[in-house]
Amino acid sequence: MDQPVIVPPFDLARQLDALGPELDQAVLKVLHSGQYIGGPVVAEFERAFAQTVGTAHVVSCNSGTDALILALRALDVGPGHEVITTSFSFFATAEAISAVGARPVFVDVDPSTYLLDLDRVEAAISPHTRALLPVHLFGYPLDMERCMALAQRHGLKVVEDCAQAAGSHWAGRPVGSWGHAGCFSFFPTKNLGAAGDGGCITTNDPQLAQRMGELAVHGMAERYVHTALGYNSRLDALQAAVLLVKLPHLQSLVRARQHQAMAYGQGLGHLGGLVLPPLQVPGHSWNQFVVRIPGAKSHSRNQVQKSLQQQGINTIIYYPTPIHRQPAYQDLGYGPGSLPVTEGLAHEVLSLPMFPELTVTQQQQVIRGLGGALQERITSYAHLESNP
Ligand SMILES: Cc1ncc(COP(=O)(O)O)c(C=O)c1O
Repeated sequence: MDQPVIVPPFDLARQLDALGPELDQAVLKVLHSGQYIGGPVVAEFERAFAQTVGTAHVVSCNSGTDALILALRALDVGPGHEVITTSFSFFATAEAISAVGARPVFVDVDPSTYLLDLDRVEAAISPHTRALLPVHLFGYPLDMERCMALAQRHGLKVVEDCAQAAGSHWAGRPVGSWGHAGCFSFFPTKNLGAAGDGGCITTNDPQLAQRMGELAVHGMAERYVHTALGYNSRLDALQAAVLLVKLPHLQSLVRARQHQAMAYGQGLGHLGGLVLPPLQVPGHSWNQFVVRIPGAKSHSRNQVQKSLQQQGINTIIYYPTPIHRQPAYQDLGYGPGSLPVTEGLAHEVLSLPMFPELTVTQQQQVIRGLGGALQERITSYAHLESNP
């Protein structure tokens, strides 16, 4: 049997190391160019990313959060408006809606995909609704044909949160190319990660692209002429250089994730007390491999996580508290039980180590470790039952 190895939830340095001299050269070139904000490298990255996603325009910015804010602002979403979204996401999804002065309206998720439940969206539409903000969570692509048809029927804009889904497709078409705008994060753990913060917005609408580009630079329409109150949200040239080196590898990085997802499926499929994510999902980029460990409250899941940790296997819970139950959103009035599927998931989900450089040995260690942790749980329950 292999020696136990420490398994991190991700290993960012290894990916940058693998790119070696090419990356070093690209970074040094920017350093010596003296052009650190904007310039040819940023423009080249925007062109290359537009080609990858298949949209006419890409506006780079400083983060995925800013991408969402810029898209909503440019679509004239603001005070008095509602945006329908999911509460089972990173906080920034809803925070961006609030940041433009609008109100997030949360709809529960589909229990099989963990994505915005499109069957429930129509009931949440009001005269104030301006946009839908679906999230391709964990890289799982939402049914964008249905989503766009629904939005069109109600005259709503669609901003896709693609932060976790660079390289994902729906019906063979990249996410971020379906909605009025697609918002990507280049946070280091994402499928296409920078060596720091970064983000961008994809769109086919030239006017929207222009507005977003201006808003990202203090609402500046021409040099020192400010037509709107905007932001300072730019992608650094150094980050663009890193991203340009990594972008040609995106497909193979995603393929590695897909391969690992299938290996997890094979290795874990026979285990009891565990719910696997749907495995046969074309276009899934597997930013995360999220299993569910059902049990009372979070007890079983937490116990399994602790047992894995003791074996050197580090997992993460995305996300332990749904957005609608966060202290910052208590004023929205979503009490406990208001989104039962989302709240149930928050008690049960556990993200296993998943990154392109995860070795077969590490993955086997996770599979064995999880089998052992689940067995331990069953044994401790049996013990409790015989000693009430
Ligand atoms: C679903 C989702 N939306 C938005 C964001 C925000 O992206 P950033 O961290 O680049 O601001 C993230 C980042 O974790 C995310 O996961």
